[in-house]
Amino acid sequence: MIYILDTADLAAIKHCNEFYPLAGVTTNPSIIAKAKTDFWKLVKDIRAIIGEDKMLHVQTTQTEAEKIVEEAKLLKKELGGEFYVKIPIGEEGLKATMMLKELGIGVTMTAIFTPAQALMSAMAGASFVAPYVNRLDNILGDGCEVVAEIVSQLENYGSDCKVLAASFKNAEQVHKCASYGCHSVTVTDDIMKTLISHPMTDAAIAGFEKDWKGVYGDKTILDF
Ligand code: E4P
Repeated sequence: MIYILDTADLAAIKHCNEFYPLAGVTTNPSIIAKAKTDFWKLVKDIRAIIGEDKMLHVQTTQTEAEKIVEEAKLLKKELGGEFYVKIPIGEEGLKATMMLKELGIGVTMTAIFTPAQALMSAMAGASFVAPYVNRLDNILGDGCEVVAEIVSQLENYGSDCKVLAASFKNAEQVHKCASYGCHSVTVTDDIMKTLISHPMTDAAIAGFEKDWKGVYGDKTILDF
Protein backbone atom coordinates (compact mmCIF):
# COMPACT_ATOMS: atom_id res chain seq x y z
CA MET A 1 0.00 0.00 0.00
CA ILE A 2 1.24 3.46 -0.93
CA TYR A 3 0.16 6.02 1.71
CA ILE A 4 -0.17 9.63 0.59
CA LEU A 5 -1.29 12.66 2.59
CA ASP A 6 -4.20 14.70 1.21
CA THR A 7 -3.50 18.14 2.64
CA ALA A 8 -1.55 21.38 2.29
CA ASP A 9 -1.23 21.77 6.06
CA LEU A 10 2.54 22.06 6.50
CA ALA A 11 2.53 21.01 10.16
CA ALA A 12 0.56 17.86 9.32
CA ILE A 13 2.89 17.10 6.41
CA LYS A 14 5.99 17.55 8.61
CA HIS A 15 4.51 15.28 11.26
CA CYS A 16 3.41 12.48 8.93
CA ASN A 17 6.64 12.67 6.95
CA GLU A 18 8.53 11.96 10.18
CA PHE A 19 6.33 9.29 11.73
CA TYR A 20 4.64 7.41 8.87
CA PRO A 21 5.82 5.55 5.77
CA LEU A 22 4.64 8.47 3.67
CA ALA A 23 5.04 8.27 -0.11
CA GLY A 24 3.98 11.82 -0.90
CA VAL A 25 1.33 14.55 -0.80
CA THR A 26 -1.75 15.28 -2.92
CA THR A 27 -3.47 18.64 -3.19
CA ASN A 28 -6.39 20.01 -5.15
CA PRO A 29 -7.61 23.58 -5.75
CA SER A 30 -9.98 23.40 -2.74
CA ILE A 31 -7.18 22.19 -0.44
CA ILE A 32 -4.82 24.92 -1.70
CA ALA A 33 -7.50 27.62 -1.42
CA LYS A 34 -8.17 26.62 2.20
CA ALA A 35 -4.60 27.63 3.08
CA LYS A 36 -5.31 31.20 1.74
CA THR A 37 -1.63 31.84 1.03
CA ASP A 38 0.77 32.32 -1.86
CA PHE A 39 0.49 29.32 -4.21
CA TRP A 40 4.16 28.92 -5.16
CA LYS A 41 5.43 29.39 -1.62
CA LEU A 42 2.99 26.78 -0.34
CA VAL A 43 3.76 24.06 -2.89
CA LYS A 44 7.50 24.71 -2.69
CA ASP A 45 7.32 24.47 1.11
CA ILE A 46 5.59 21.09 0.71
CA ARG A 47 8.35 19.97 -1.68
CA ALA A 48 11.02 21.14 0.78
CA ILE A 49 9.46 19.06 3.57
CA ILE A 50 8.99 15.83 1.64
CA GLY A 51 12.10 16.10 -0.54
CA GLU A 52 12.63 15.28 -4.20
CA ASP A 53 12.09 11.53 -3.92
CA LYS A 54 8.52 11.62 -2.62
CA MET A 55 5.50 12.24 -4.83
CA LEU A 56 3.88 15.63 -5.07
CA HIS A 57 0.53 15.72 -6.92
CA VAL A 58 -0.74 19.20 -7.81
CA GLN A 59 -3.94 19.80 -9.78
CA THR A 60 -4.10 21.93 -12.90
CA THR A 61 -6.33 25.02 -12.94
CA GLN A 62 -6.68 24.86 -16.75
CA THR A 63 -9.48 23.27 -18.75
CA GLU A 64 -8.04 23.18 -22.28
CA ALA A 65 -5.47 20.49 -23.20
CA GLU A 66 -2.68 22.75 -24.50
CA LYS A 67 -3.01 25.02 -21.43
CA ILE A 68 -3.04 22.01 -19.09
CA VAL A 69 0.21 20.86 -20.69
CA GLU A 70 1.72 24.35 -20.36
CA GLU A 71 0.77 24.47 -16.68
CA ALA A 72 2.04 20.93 -16.05
CA LYS A 73 5.42 21.81 -17.61
CA LEU A 74 5.71 24.89 -15.41
CA LEU A 75 4.72 22.93 -12.28
CA LYS A 76 7.24 20.20 -13.09
CA LYS A 77 9.98 22.78 -13.72
CA GLU A 78 9.30 24.64 -10.46
CA LEU A 79 8.60 21.65 -8.22
CA GLY A 80 10.99 19.09 -9.69
CA GLY A 81 11.42 15.62 -8.22
CA GLU A 82 8.65 13.05 -8.26
CA PHE A 83 5.88 15.22 -9.68
CA TYR A 84 2.40 14.35 -10.96
CA VAL A 85 -0.10 16.76 -12.42
CA LYS A 86 -3.68 16.06 -11.39
CA ILE A 87 -6.17 16.48 -14.21
CA PRO A 88 -9.95 16.04 -13.87
CA ILE A 89 -11.29 13.40 -16.28
CA GLY A 90 -12.78 14.76 -19.51
CA GLU A 91 -11.94 14.97 -23.23
CA GLU A 92 -9.43 17.82 -22.77
CA GLY A 93 -7.90 15.97 -19.82
CA LEU A 94 -7.44 12.80 -21.86
CA LYS A 95 -5.85 14.75 -24.71
CA ALA A 96 -3.51 16.47 -22.25
CA THR A 97 -2.65 13.12 -20.66
CA MET A 98 -1.60 11.67 -24.03
CA MET A 99 0.52 14.77 -24.71
CA LEU A 100 2.11 14.67 -21.25
CA LYS A 101 2.90 10.97 -21.63
CA GLU A 102 5.08 11.93 -24.62
CA LEU A 103 6.81 14.56 -22.49
CA GLY A 104 7.42 12.14 -19.60
CA ILE A 105 5.30 14.09 -17.10
CA GLY A 106 3.22 11.86 -14.81
CA VAL A 107 -0.56 12.32 -14.69
CA THR A 108 -3.02 11.52 -11.93
CA MET A 109 -6.49 11.53 -13.45
CA THR A 110 -8.80 12.83 -10.77
CA ALA A 111 -12.54 13.25 -10.06
CA ILE A 112 -13.05 9.61 -11.09
CA PHE A 113 -16.44 8.12 -10.20
CA THR A 114 -16.75 5.11 -12.54
CA PRO A 115 -14.57 2.20 -13.70
CA ALA A 116 -15.18 3.32 -17.31
CA GLN A 117 -13.60 6.72 -16.59
CA ALA A 118 -10.65 5.01 -14.89
CA LEU A 119 -10.01 2.54 -17.70
CA MET A 120 -10.09 5.27 -20.37
CA SER A 121 -7.65 7.35 -18.27
CA ALA A 122 -5.30 4.39 -17.95
CA MET A 123 -5.38 3.78 -21.69
CA ALA A 124 -4.55 7.46 -22.30
CA GLY A 125 -1.42 6.99 -20.18
CA ALA A 126 -2.32 8.19 -16.69
CA SER A 127 0.02 6.89 -13.98
CA PHE A 128 -2.70 7.06 -11.32
CA VAL A 129 -6.50 7.26 -11.31
CA ALA A 130 -8.17 8.81 -8.28
CA PRO A 131 -11.71 7.57 -7.51
CA TYR A 132 -13.56 9.59 -4.85
CA VAL A 133 -14.71 6.99 -2.33
CA ASN A 134 -16.62 9.06 0.20
CA ARG A 135 -18.34 11.27 -2.36
CA LEU A 136 -19.75 8.06 -3.89
CA ASP A 137 -20.81 6.76 -0.47
CA ASN A 138 -22.53 10.11 0.16
CA ILE A 139 -24.92 9.53 -2.74
CA LEU A 140 -25.74 5.93 -1.75
CA GLY A 141 -23.04 4.53 -4.03
CA ASP A 142 -20.37 2.12 -2.82
CA GLY A 143 -17.02 3.85 -3.24
CA CYS A 144 -14.97 0.82 -2.18
CA GLU A 145 -16.82 -1.46 -4.64
CA VAL A 146 -16.01 1.00 -7.43
CA VAL A 147 -12.35 0.92 -6.35
CA ALA A 148 -12.42 -2.90 -6.39
CA GLU A 149 -13.86 -2.91 -9.90
CA ILE A 150 -11.24 -0.44 -11.15
CA VAL A 151 -8.43 -2.53 -9.62
CA SER A 152 -9.67 -5.66 -11.34
CA GLN A 153 -10.24 -3.95 -14.72
CA LEU A 154 -6.72 -2.48 -14.71
CA GLU A 155 -5.35 -5.92 -13.87
CA ASN A 156 -7.42 -7.58 -16.62
CA TYR A 157 -5.96 -5.23 -19.21
CA GLY A 158 -2.40 -5.52 -17.89
CA SER A 159 -2.26 -1.78 -17.20
CA ASP A 160 0.47 -0.39 -14.98
CA CYS A 161 -1.77 2.53 -13.99
CA LYS A 162 -2.32 2.54 -10.21
CA VAL A 163 -5.51 3.25 -8.28
CA LEU A 164 -5.03 6.19 -5.91
CA ALA A 165 -8.26 6.08 -3.91
CA ALA A 166 -9.20 9.48 -2.49
CA SER A 167 -11.90 11.41 -0.64
CA PHE A 168 -11.94 9.26 2.48
CA LYS A 169 -13.86 10.21 5.57
CA ASN A 170 -13.01 7.24 7.78
CA ALA A 171 -10.43 4.51 8.32
CA GLU A 172 -12.90 1.70 7.57
CA GLN A 173 -13.19 2.93 3.96
CA VAL A 174 -9.38 2.81 3.70
CA HIS A 175 -9.24 -0.67 5.21
CA LYS A 176 -11.89 -1.95 2.78
CA CYS A 177 -10.06 -0.47 -0.22
CA ALA A 178 -6.82 -2.08 0.97
CA SER A 179 -8.51 -5.47 1.22
CA TYR A 180 -9.71 -5.04 -2.38
CA GLY A 181 -6.09 -4.63 -3.52
CA CYS A 182 -6.15 -0.86 -4.03
CA HIS A 183 -2.57 0.25 -4.79
CA SER A 184 -2.54 3.59 -2.99
CA VAL A 185 -4.67 5.89 -0.85
CA THR A 186 -4.55 9.59 -0.08
CA VAL A 187 -5.86 10.45 3.38
CA THR A 188 -5.90 13.16 6.04
CA ASP A 189 -3.47 13.08 8.96
CA ASP A 190 -6.41 12.21 11.26
CA ILE A 191 -7.18 9.09 9.24
CA MET A 192 -3.47 8.21 9.13
CA LYS A 193 -3.47 8.22 12.95
CA THR A 194 -6.73 6.28 13.23
CA LEU A 195 -5.25 3.57 11.00
CA ILE A 196 -2.68 2.70 13.69
CA SER A 197 -4.87 3.26 16.77
CA HIS A 198 -6.65 0.68 18.91
CA PRO A 199 -7.77 0.90 22.57
CA MET A 200 -6.49 -2.66 23.18
CA THR A 201 -3.04 -1.55 21.97
CA ASP A 202 -3.12 1.35 24.46
CA ALA A 203 -4.15 -1.08 27.23
CA ALA A 204 -1.37 -3.53 26.28
CA ILE A 205 1.29 -0.80 26.37
CA ALA A 206 0.01 0.49 29.73
CA GLY A 207 0.21 -3.07 31.12
CA PHE A 208 3.83 -3.53 29.94
CA GLU A 209 4.82 -0.22 31.58
CA LYS A 210 3.07 -1.00 34.85
CA ASP A 211 4.63 -4.48 35.19
CA TRP A 212 8.13 -3.22 34.33
CA LYS A 213 7.98 -0.24 36.68
CA GLY A 214 6.65 -2.50 39.48
CA VAL A 215 10.02 -4.30 39.50
CA TYR A 216 12.59 -1.94 37.91
CA GLY A 217 11.13 1.51 38.66
CA ASP A 218 12.29 4.20 36.20
CA LYS A 219 15.26 2.14 34.93
CA THR A 220 15.21 1.31 31.22
CA ILE A 221 17.24 -1.34 29.38
CA LEU A 222 19.77 1.39 28.63
CA ASP A 223 20.41 1.76 32.39
CA PHE A 224 21.45 -1.85 33.02
C1 E4P B 1 -7.61 13.95 -3.74
O1 E4P B 1 -6.91 13.67 -4.64
C2 E4P B 1 -9.01 14.46 -3.88
O2 E4P B 1 -8.97 15.66 -4.54
C3 E4P B 1 -9.61 14.58 -2.52
O3 E4P B 1 -9.31 13.42 -1.77
C4 E4P B 1 -11.09 14.87 -2.52
O4 E4P B 1 -11.54 14.77 -1.20
P1 E4P B 1 -12.92 15.38 -0.68
O5 E4P B 1 -14.02 14.58 -1.27
O6 E4P B 1 -12.84 15.25 0.81
O7 E4P B 1 -12.95 16.81 -1.12
